[in-house]
Amino acid sequence: MTPIPVVLDVDTGIDDACALLLAALHPGLDLRGVTCVGGNAPLADVVRNTLTVLDAAGRAEVPVAAGARRPLLEESVDARHVHGSDGMADLGLAASTRSPQDRPAVELLRELADSGAGSGSPVTLVPLAPMTNIALFARLHPDAFGRLGRVVFMGGGAHVSNATAAAEFNVFHDPEATAIVLDACAEHGVPVTMYGLDVFYDPVVTVADGQALRDLGTPVGTLAGGLIDFACRRFDSDTATIGDAGAVATLLRPDVVRTQRLPVRVELSGTWTRGRTIVDLRDWAGDMAHDPHGLAPGVVDVALEIDGAAIADLWLRTVRGEL
Ligand code: RIB
Ligand code: CA
Repeated sequence: MTPIPVVLDVDTGIDDACALLLAALHPGLDLRGVTCVGGNAPLADVVRNTLTVLDAAGRAEVPVAAGARRPLLEESVDARHVHGSDGMADLGLAASTRSPQDRPAVELLRELADSGAGSGSPVTLVPLAPMTNIALFARLHPDAFGRLGRVVFMGGGAHVSNATAAAEFNVFHDPEATAIVLDACAEHGVPVTMYGLDVFYDPVVTVADGQALRDLGTPVGTLAGGLIDFACRRFDSDTATIGDAGAVATLLRPDVVRTQRLPVRVELSGTWTRGRTIVDLRDWAGDMAHDPHGLAPGVVDVALEIDGAAIADLWLRTVRGEL
């Protein structure tokens, strides 16, 4: 199988780190670059953590660029209560000696979109954070955005939320960005998949998996095992979701996730519902004539069910070096 060209946009983040390890190590993926955005942690921490993960994976050649420090409108609010004070499980790993590129994320995204399309292999863009960088990319370089092969984003939910009673963290922190990206995908005909909270929590690994990884004594095993250990302890549980890594894994195992192509809008103004992804599950056209809103122009492949065990197993075999 020809490796799938991928670009990740991250707010590393424990589960972003799990996703980066999968993208960097699996032979079925060709990681072309990584862009960083403020989210789980402040931007500087996200960049540092991202470089640390790529060093541990032996992928120091992968370009990294920093993007937006904060959302388009909202103030920055991090999730260090979940991810640790350094944003990545407080493992105390040595910081990379590398630096991010001295150009902004949107320019790296533009180059990678153009080069992928130019070589006949359009890249799959995988946003795993608030989509501020992606919205700016779509607005500044619409032609390059239109050359993307596909967008698979972690965000939203049809039936599940986390940041508020209505919204998921990535979308809640930059609802306008999510709306802009969905509009741009519709405008340019870029297929888009939503890997939302309906499936996000299903691929889980155990404390024992984490200890076995640490026992490998490898840089990847130490990092991956430390991430799992922290996540399990944080929630006083024997298991932890690999979160964002599941979105990357579905590129390799589309057969284990059920998606449905549905209209999706983002609520921007609701007092209690701002940031909600409104997934239109109606299956009866009879009322459409009386719907003043009509169908959302943004049609998305929404992940509704997943074989979590198969996804977790793929991730574990990859970070254990068993592929
Ligand atoms: O809601 C989960 C998402 O928010 C994940 O991407 C996690 O890393 C955080 O960014
Ligand atoms: Ca994330």
